[in-house]
Amino acid sequence: MTKITAAITAVGAYVPDYVLTNQILETMVDTNDEWITARTGIKERRILKDKDKGTSYMAIKAAEDLIKKRNIDPREIDMVIMATATPDMPVAATGVYVASQIGAVNAFSFDLVAACSSFLFGMSTAARYIESGKYKKVLLIGADKMSSIIDYEDRTTCIIFGDGAGAILFEPNLEGLGLIDEYLRSDGIGRNHLKIDAGGSLLPPSAETVANKQHYVFQDGKTVFKFAVSNLADVCAKVMERNNLSSEDVNWLVPHQANKRIIDAASNRMGLPDEKVMINIHKYGNTTSATLPLCLADYEDQLKKGDDLVFAAFGGGFTWGAVYLKWAYNSK
Ligand code: UT7
Repeated sequence: MTKITAAITAVGAYVPDYVLTNQILETMVDTNDEWITARTGIKERRILKDKDKGTSYMAIKAAEDLIKKRNIDPREIDMVIMATATPDMPVAATGVYVASQIGAVNAFSFDLVAACSSFLFGMSTAARYIESGKYKKVLLIGADKMSSIIDYEDRTTCIIFGDGAGAILFEPNLEGLGLIDEYLRSDGIGRNHLKIDAGGSLLPPSAETVANKQHYVFQDGKTVFKFAVSNLADVCAKVMERNNLSSEDVNWLVPHQANKRIIDAASNRMGLPDEKVMINIHKYGNTTSATLPLCLADYEDQLKKGDDLVFAAFGGGFTWGAVYLKWAYNSK
């Protein structure tokens, strides 16, 4: 029997209109465009300003974009995996609401939480369902309203993150295209270095936690950077080695957009020239679960059937990994 692989067959995206530039941030905290650009590669990010809209709003928009582009009936979707670190609410999975809103009435859904690796781990999860032969259309959405958990008085975090959403559709493939290999890792040592202290079962919300600003993201940037640089490059090299891929063979690196210097370290280790590395950190910053699909959306027109792509991410937890995937269609 021919092996079923899980191929990406469509991409959708959404970013809010409001642009938070480095220049605007200069008026909010003690920072400057030169520092932010040199240390991170970020020039601007998008922010969902509407107070009454959560992550689901952007997820729905990205999913609707995909559904329209691929011209499918949402009732054909079998499952919706919602990768996010900023669900609408702690209980009542955001993906379930999103699935209903987009008309995926025959799907089941759940949220997948692994900080900045949520989408990468979601790719692995989606692929297993497709490979089982039981599911034909799996929608994976990555969306985060990072502005809802960022302290805009903390210059070490507010310059980094942005809001956005992206979606991809996985379908069965019998030509050997789609997800080929993956190497996923996690290490609880990261828990102290990138976290939100309060609001969970360990430290429920109280007047004190709010006063202490414990509902915002805390990041020990230097430590996270150190782990990210070496581990991200390691998993990329591992996936290349395991699949006998040379730097010539790899057509694209699709890296999580956390810091341009982390991306450069990975691409250097892989021996890839800049032209083979998807970059949009300058315009969106770190959108957590949305970085990978937003890259695909930006570069979709340049992708060709059979292209070899390496996806890679590193995030809180720590969580990290790389996925090797063969692209399944020509967009143009
Ligand atoms: O996506 C999830 C995983 N997250 C990551 O991968 C992020 C990893 N970390 C990073 O990307 C970087 O560590 C940051 C961008 C967060 C920070 O860059 P850095 O080069 O590690 O800077 P640093 O924290 O070592 O700070 C260097 C200096 C410090 O001043 P002193 O102590 O040298 O006087 C900071 O106080 O830069 C100062 N600084 C700033 N200056 C201007 C920190 N933030 C800012 C700022 N503007 N926004």
